[in-house]
Amino acid sequence: MTIDDAKIIELPKFLDARGNLSFAENFKQIPFEIKRTYWIYDVPGGEKRGGHAYCENKEFIIALSGAFDVVVDDGKEKKTFTLNRSYYGLYVPKGLWREMDNFSTNSFALEFASTYYNEADYIYDYDQFKKLKRDAAI
Ligand code: TYD
Repeated sequence: MTIDDAKIIELPKFLDARGNLSFAENFKQIPFEIKRTYWIYDVPGGEKRGGHAYCENKEFIIALSGAFDVVVDDGKEKKTFTLNRSYYGLYVPKGLWREMDNFSTNSFALEFASTYYNEADYIYDYDQFKKLKRDAAI
């Protein structure tokens, strides 16, 4: 996987004077089966989240409110995606380092994941990540 495999996917939106609606479905807008969802909120100014890679887990990230950046890194190159619309999702394949920062006040990140929570799936050491990428082990 390289940073070119991470991509923004525009979600359907129904604009309505009563309030707008968007949605996402398994294997349609979201290119995997959702096993888990979690959300990040009340992030203090200047904080970062993430800062790791997953061996197997794929993710789909939506800024339901506010804005933040997701930096993806394949060990050679980095790319920053700014999420600031609730009808855009970022697909992050497995095997990429990713970090989230620049959270605006009251931002709310919703994340869909392709695996159940598994601590053993995480790579927290950047040098180890780079070595695994060099060896094509992830
Ligand atoms: P972590 O994934 O390290 O957060 P981030 O990558 O945003 O910095 O998760 C933080 C803690 O939350 C970790 O100790 C385990 C727990 N956690 C779960 O129990 N289930 C989950 O689905 C997630 C994402 C985290």
